[in-house]
Amino acid sequence: MGHGTKNHDMSHGPRPMSQKLRIAHVSHVPRLEFMLMRNERARLAKALKQHIEGLNALGISALPKERTSMEGQPVSPPTKEAQLVLRPDCFDESGSALVPSGPIDQLNLVEALAKLSKEVSLCQRCPLYRTRTHPVVSDGSPSARLVFVGEAPGREEDLRGIPFVGAAGQLLTKMIEAMGFKRQDVYICNVLKDRPPGNRTPLPEEMEACLPFLKAQLAIVQPRVICVLGAIAAKALLGPHVAITKIRGTLMEYEGIPVIPTFHPAYLLRNPPAKKFAWEDLKRVKQLLEIQGQGAGDGGRG
Ligand code: URA
Repeated sequence: MGHGTKNHDMSHGPRPMSQKLRIAHVSHVPRLEFMLMRNERARLAKALKQHIEGLNALGISALPKERTSMEGQPVSPPTKEAQLVLRPDCFDESGSALVPSGPIDQLNLVEALAKLSKEVSLCQRCPLYRTRTHPVVSDGSPSARLVFVGEAPGREEDLRGIPFVGAAGQLLTKMIEAMGFKRQDVYICNVLKDRPPGNRTPLPEEMEACLPFLKAQLAIVQPRVICVLGAIAAKALLGPHVAITKIRGTLMEYEGIPVIPTFHPAYLLRNPPAKKFAWEDLKRVKQLLEIQGQGAGDGGRG
């Protein structure tokens, strides 16, 4: 459960060429980071092989082809109501219809995020819009190199329309500052944009419905590192079967972007001894940013 300097001066036109290449080919990722990711891939490939061998040993030789939800359940077709309110002109599963097709410069970065916020405010893809006070899209810098992804807005966030402003948010701000960054220089968002009543854990179908917005946010912001906070954000970006206790601190990847999962600040509030592990993970995040030559916020993506 949730609660569990880039110099994009508008006058300078599009983002540096290397940034565009990064998205297309990840070709300029510095050697060390690349090696780290290659090692991680090799580790994951080995783990996958072991997993498959384990399944075989249990007599399972094939997995269902059927699309599954975040929790591994078969995906049911959208309800009649959801079909009625789906806006096919602006929405697809990848969120790509919300991402500008050409190079993203400072101007269309801001415009694209404004359009996305508008779509979130109109969204009725799941019933949470009925009980929310405000949709909660993001906080921080749209041109941040570091993005934190949490679970879903809580009470405070719902009232203010800003992510991570309650008790867990205050801890997150301290964690960011302990890394030597400012909260306003990173980009903060959640898997769900609307508060689940009573801060309950997001339902798989709510995550499915909201995920295109998160995907679009990441495609627009194009961070150098993503730090996922807690089990729900890890499942949303890394796969339904990941376990945060197992993968925390491990370098993973989402669409070619390095990802470090760590514990959710709300969990850390309930389990202070786990803070030392989260701190290890955050140091890893910082190291990945430093390998690429910059801090968390504006300062040139090149
Ligand atoms: N917990 C989250 O995951 N996100 C918030 O915005 C607040 C609390």
